[in-house]
Amino acid sequence: MIQIPPPRRSERPRSNKVRMKKLIVANWKSNPSTEEEAIRLAKQTDFSGIVVAPPFVFIEAVGKNIAKAKLGAQNVFWAAGAHTGETSPEQLKNLGVSHVIIGHSELRAVGETDEMVNKKVTASLDAGFKPILCVGESAASRGLGIGKAKDFVRGQLSRDLTGIGPKVKEVIVAYEPIWAIGTGNPDNPESAAEMAGFIKETVFKEHGARIMVLYGGSVNGGNAGMFLSKKDIDGALVGGASLKPEDFAKIVEAGR
Ligand code: PGA
Repeated sequence: MIQIPPPRRSERPRSNKVRMKKLIVANWKSNPSTEEEAIRLAKQTDFSGIVVAPPFVFIEAVGKNIAKAKLGAQNVFWAAGAHTGETSPEQLKNLGVSHVIIGHSELRAVGETDEMVNKKVTASLDAGFKPILCVGESAASRGLGIGKAKDFVRGQLSRDLTGIGPKVKEVIVAYEPIWAIGTGNPDNPESAAEMAGFIKETVFKEHGARIMVLYGGSVNGGNAGMFLSKKDIDGALVGGASLKPEDFAKIVEAGR
């Protein structure tokens, strides 16, 4: 009698469940200018496994118009109460936000300090969010070599994660070299992966936590695959290209 062997692993039918291997975060920054446009963009980029971070004014509307994507915020304050112009963790929580971008270089450039970043990360973890902590060196620092850039990033991580304790494992770090943001001049994938590996090693040494690291800075549909194929790069933080549905869809595809 002929025995038919069971199919090998690779021949077994795959489940059609879409599994997102890499995390793609859409940072819309201060775009678009109307709720109508925000809703249109949200519907066009509502993919599973992504986080969409609209401006505060559109979070609620976007939240009501997405089914697959998760909701993020671009900033948060560390307290509720008498803080004019700020948004508290509870307020974001009540809108269904799950991820909060913290310490973006565009905020650091207008005065956000490591001490403030640390308070925001702490408050976000206390509220049950996944903080997406942005770090990254200036062009001047990188000009002195990748070793100097690592020293700079190590310093940011150490100050921004001070006193956080075991919850550090919930933090997602986005490595965003400042000179690569919005310039059309991304880091090269090898250096970005080297930095991502360095960040993981540093956080593991200091806190015993294994964390996810994203790359951000001029990621687009054409180059995303080169970053997302790197083992140490767990996803991408996308600015400009997240406003272009076709380009963004290519990035999401590259992360699957
Ligand atoms: P970019 O922005 O993709 O437009 O370079 C990335 C970011 O600032 O998060």
